[in-house]
Amino acid sequence: MPKALITGITGQDGSYLAEFLLAQGYEVVGMVRRSSTINFHRIEHIQERITLTPGDLLDQVSLIHMLEEHRPDEVYNLAAQSFVQTSWAQPVFTGEATALGVTRLLDAIRIVDPQIRFYQASSSEMFGKVVETPQRETTPFYPRSPYGVAKVYGHWITVNYRESYGLHAVSGILFNHESPRRGLEFVTRKITHQVARIKLGLSRELRLGNLDARRDWGFAGDYVKAMWTMVNHDRPVDYVIATGETHSVEEFLNLAFNHAGLDWRDYVVQDPRFMRPAEVDLLVGDATKAGRELGWEPQVTFAGLVQMMVDADVKMLQDGVTPV
Ligand code: NAP
Ligand code: GDD
Repeated sequence: MPKALITGITGQDGSYLAEFLLAQGYEVVGMVRRSSTINFHRIEHIQERITLTPGDLLDQVSLIHMLEEHRPDEVYNLAAQSFVQTSWAQPVFTGEATALGVTRLLDAIRIVDPQIRFYQASSSEMFGKVVETPQRETTPFYPRSPYGVAKVYGHWITVNYRESYGLHAVSGILFNHESPRRGLEFVTRKITHQVARIKLGLSRELRLGNLDARRDWGFAGDYVKAMWTMVNHDRPVDYVIATGETHSVEEFLNLAFNHAGLDWRDYVVQDPRFMRPAEVDLLVGDATKAGRELGWEPQVTFAGLVQMMVDADVKMLQDGVTPV
């Protein structure tokens, strides 16, 4: 039975990837960092079927011990300080986890077992102030936040370890992907959660920043399949993963409120607190190479994603589940 180790298993993507790998017959190990409160809500339903092991991207020795103990065939590095807005408030911490953390993990692999296959969670934020549209594997990077800069470092160190040490290491340049398990601070989930609260009479307004920003939004469940396909490709190659469609925050708002029978203009207040020092105005990816070489295609449409998220948030509140 192949064994995969996932960093960031408590996050959105980690939980979907763990489910996917279990269904493929993998033994799944998840790295978790110490926190004072349990944050396993996204993996509660599979906790009996996976092994959790302590570790932190900031702690090199913990990574070496973890690999020595579990001896995985594949490592998926999904852990990161992943919220762009926070990266301006905590730029050095973001660099430690999201940039240098990748080197620590690659070095641990090099030391313990260079045969381990490695996946790095690269991001469309690396394209930032885009120099080409749509963005593809050959588009130059122009990051617009400390997070984006850190991801560029993580991307290039993965390329470098592949070229320097012959590691089977790949980066997936994934565009935004969402789900009912998305963190409440990201704009899609912030909207769908608040739509559900407004619909159920629990709230009256939604405060947002820039409504004109455009993103290429897909479904996280589709994107974790691309990670696995990439790692199991015969050659280690980097791919863009995206839907090829772009929509504004306002379009997302419109669909989400409409789905609940509401008009967003009655509830949305623009709040400068949610504006960013430097914005990424437009992202839209070209995943032609992934389609051609990996056979990967997104399954969930933009409208389907918005509806899925609104419905899940309404149900969660109706069932009395505390939203997280
Ligand atoms: P997420 O929900 O924010 O999850 C991040 C995970 O990283 C959590 O499990 C978190 O653990 C863990 N983590 C953070 N710092 C850590 C550290 N120092 N040591 C160990 N674990 C740490 O993010 P996501 O949306 O699933 O994204 C997964 C990865 O893909 C991230 O690297 C993100 O930057 C990247 N990415 C995401 C998207 C997207 O649209 N979702 C697009 C492109 C790239 P705790 O639960 O303990 O906080
Ligand atoms: N979070 C948030 N909150 N964003 C807002 C708000 C708000 O109140 N109002 C407007 N926005 C705009 C942001 O300015 C941004 O242009 C857009 O909505 C999307 O913001 P986020 O959902 O926070 O995601 P992101 O695009 O910055 O980053 C996500 O996608 C990246 C891939 O492109 C994260 O998942 C990153 O980890 C990921 O790498």
